[in-house]
Amino acid sequence: MPTALVTGATYGLGRALTEALAVRGWDLVVTAREPDRLAETVSTLRDHGHDVVGLAGDVSDAVHRDDVAHVVTGPAAADGPGGLDLLVHNASTLGPLPLRPLRDLSTDGLAAVLAVNVVAPHALTCSLLPSLEAAGGTVLAISSDAGVEHYERWGAYGASKAALDHLTLTLGAEVPSIRAYALDPGDMRTAMHQAAFPGEDIGDRPLPEEVAVPGILALLASRPASGRYRAAELLAATSEVDS
Ligand SMILES: NC(=O)c1ccc[n+]([C@@H]2O[C@H](COP(=O)([O-])OP(=O)(O)OC[C@H]3O[C@@H](n4cnc5c(N)ncnc54)[C@H](OP(=O)(O)O)[C@@H]3O)[C@@H](O)[C@H]2O)c1
Repeated sequence: MPTALVTGATYGLGRALTEALAVRGWDLVVTAREPDRLAETVSTLRDHGHDVVGLAGDVSDAVHRDDVAHVVTGPAAADGPGGLDLLVHNASTLGPLPLRPLRDLSTDGLAAVLAVNVVAPHALTCSLLPSLEAAGGTVLAISSDAGVEHYERWGAYGASKAALDHLTLTLGAEVPSIRAYALDPGDMRTAMHQAAFPGEDIGDRPLPEEVAVPGILALLASRPASGRYRAAELLAATSEVDS
């Protein structure tokens, strides 16, 4: 069975994606900070009959990342020498809330965003690169339109996603034996989106399983060249082929 590591898998996009992968027979290593919700997630994912390991921790914590890497690459690794087929950098932070103009963003606030959204994915990728290379695997960094647009008050988060995109696409250039994707999932009706728009009705945004997950599944199935992709476009291309 292919093996995927998904960070931030207990709700929102990470949860919807891991459920879709579990249904399709993937073994999973999943993470999030809150242990009870992680335990519930692992239990539900195991109902699909495949190996699921959960590790509670913050991706910005180097000790937690070492634990995750050990589970994936150590002697008890699900697929042994087969390697890691998919690494999904999904866990992310908006930074200090409410979102604020750059003039009001502290350097500590910016550093905290970069630690979760940029430094942590880079460190985890480097630890797991031998396993990814062994499998000819895929690194999937969940990006955002904020990484290419310049929305007021989204500067820290947007800069972090731009940096994540750049690292991911450079990795793709440096390691041609793997695929490296930056994926814009589009707006999604999740806790993060609600936190960015407190008090607003976000009911018109699609759930992760409506556009983002099918787009990602299409990406994983077609494995195009490393690069930056948008879930809505991947899904639209799939629909054209099907019709
Ligand atoms: N929602 C949108 O409209 C939207 C749009 C564009 C891009 N995105 C991107 O899509 C991805 C998923 O977003 P989402 O809206 O699904 O987020 P979400 O609803 O806030 O879910 C985040 C998940 O990550 C975990 N998490 C958060 N911070 C973490 C940390 N420091 N270490 C480990 N786990 C952490 C959370 O669990 P714990 O709280 O227990 O840790 C949860 O499982 C993110 O990369 C986000 O930037 C979202």
